[in-house]
Amino acid sequence: MTDLVLAIETSCDETAAAVVQGRAILSNVIASQADLHAVYGGVVPEVAARHHLTTVNAVVDEALDRAGVGLAQVDRIAVTRRPGLIGALLVGVATAKALAYAARKDLVMADHLHGHVAACWLDPVALDPPFVSLTASGGHTRLDLVEDYAHPVLLGQTLDDAAGEAIDKGARLLGIPYPGGPGLEALAGQGDATAFDFPVGLRSRGPDDLDFSFAGVKTALLYATRELGDDGVADRRADLAASYQEAIVRPLADRLMRAADAAGVPAVSIGGGVAANGRLRALVQEGAERRGLRVAIPDRTLCTDNAAMIAAAAHFTPAIAWPEFVGEDAMATAPPGGIAA
Ligand code: KG4
Ligand code: ZN
Repeated sequence: MTDLVLAIETSCDETAAAVVQGRAILSNVIASQADLHAVYGGVVPEVAARHHLTTVNAVVDEALDRAGVGLAQVDRIAVTRRPGLIGALLVGVATAKALAYAARKDLVMADHLHGHVAACWLDPVALDPPFVSLTASGGHTRLDLVEDYAHPVLLGQTLDDAAGEAIDKGARLLGIPYPGGPGLEALAGQGDATAFDFPVGLRSRGPDDLDFSFAGVKTALLYATRELGDDGVADRRADLAASYQEAIVRPLADRLMRAADAAGVPAVSIGGGVAANGRLRALVQEGAERRGLRVAIPDRTLCTDNAAMIAAAAHFTPAIAWPEFVGEDAMATAPPGGIAA
């Protein structure tokens, strides 16, 4: 077998491992810690790191078992190096380094955001450049021009909150437990998206602007809930959720289309946890079809954090030869510009 990659991802609250051969996903195991963090209303870094530590070996074994592959057969090991919670990242990096060292494999230290962009390279979506990519996650919101998977070029990004962060904070205001995205989407499905006119960030900056802002809409939801009071909020929860969701996902879809128009590319893609949102997926589908663009929408499990996407990024990231990687480390922050390749 050639180009067989074992990938490990532990940057936040999912312990994940995958075996990927070329574009084919042979296994993609995700152990979510979301329930552990729900009681705190968000991810607690120390809890996340400790839980990765107890889970990661079993998750790696499960990924190899499901793929029917032994460690000796793997060509390279890949791991998320950055950005993320440093304690969480360190667990994945230490595990990957130890496995690679023991099995005498080269190691690829991949970027988490690069993984979200590269997820659409995997089967069955299998998108080839050029295209414009939207990544919307809990920590980041950005548009990239991808003419070459190794070097996505930043076109625009959020100036304040990430889309997922705004979704999670808004969900919390409506009494939806962490992580708020799926719960907000379910509640929004029962409401009227035109009921509340929440502000869309940076509308005033003109049609060429490809940046985002979500701090204003979050504040608008806070004021609306204060004005309605507890009983009013209880009556209007679904309408609030639908209107709030719309105010976040519509600018994401609109700016993606605008960026595609400006770049003159034949395709668009979406990735990151917020790309699991059905309303965003529908808006992007509609907008792309109207323009005659190909639209790459990976399966929801490849949008939220997973290790198969790290194997995809690893395909476009130089490997560090055995045993030179032993001195390499995890890093909490993204490099300037955002995606290291
Ligand atoms: O990419 P991801 O899994 O982790 C990070 O890299 O941050 O993204 C997590 C974010 C969370 O804010 C979560 O609420 C959001 O993605 N999310 C969703 C949905 N599923 C997850 N947002 C809207 N609708 C969803 N169905
Ligand atoms: Zn992510």
